[in-house]
Amino acid sequence: MPLPSMTSSQPMNCHLMKTTKNLFFESDCILTLGDGNFTFSRYLYQSFKCKIIATDVVDNHKSNSLIKDNREYLIDNGHNVYLGVDATKLEEYPLLMCRNDISYIIFNFPHVLTKKMKIGLNRQLLKEFFESAQRFIGDKSIKVMVSLCSGQSGVNDIEETDRKWSDSWQLPEMATNGNFVIIDYNDFIEKR
Ligand SMILES: C[S@@+](CC[C@H](N)C(=O)[O-])C[C@H]1O[C@@H](n2cnc3c(N)ncnc32)[C@H](O)[C@@H]1O
Repeated sequence: MPLPSMTSSQPMNCHLMKTTKNLFFESDCILTLGDGNFTFSRYLYQSFKCKIIATDVVDNHKSNSLIKDNREYLIDNGHNVYLGVDATKLEEYPLLMCRNDISYIIFNFPHVLTKKMKIGLNRQLLKEFFESAQRFIGDKSIKVMVSLCSGQSGVNDIEETDRKWSDSWQLPEMATNGNFVIIDYNDFIEKR
């Protein structure tokens, strides 16, 4: 059974990241989901030299120069960048399903596309993501990581913020929908 680990984090706009542990190695291939402007994927590569498959659900980024620059950087360095990838339907993408080299899936700060904070929709996004990840992973050995802001996970044992379960994203419960359990967590270290 695939087992996820969870990365709890500090602020949304923190720039990556040398974690306290040597989390990834050059031999790893990391599928990033919902990576928006691909800054996270770029720094992931720069920090760990691993192979990256960077994706986001949005496929009409228009002419955002940061996105263009990060995409070009990743592609020029031999990585893949795919737009229009819905993290709740991973098993529907043959380009991803055929990959046998993925060692990690990272959904960094998942958040529904609506501007207004709707916690129920974000829980639903997590639930459907974990369900899809289970179908996607099958019997492969792939770990799942989810980064959340401090207090969001609902796991007060590992959070600095003591937030009510009902105000959280209820990560452990959402994860069980895909038969995942939390096996580890790490803090981000900010690099501004
Ligand atoms: C708070 S932003 C985080 C962006 C980026 N991962 C980062 O850390 O800077 C939330 C991201 O979730 C993505 N997202 C929302 N719904 C999604 C879905 N169903 N599948 C994949 N990504 C999704 C959005 O496109 C957006 O890029």
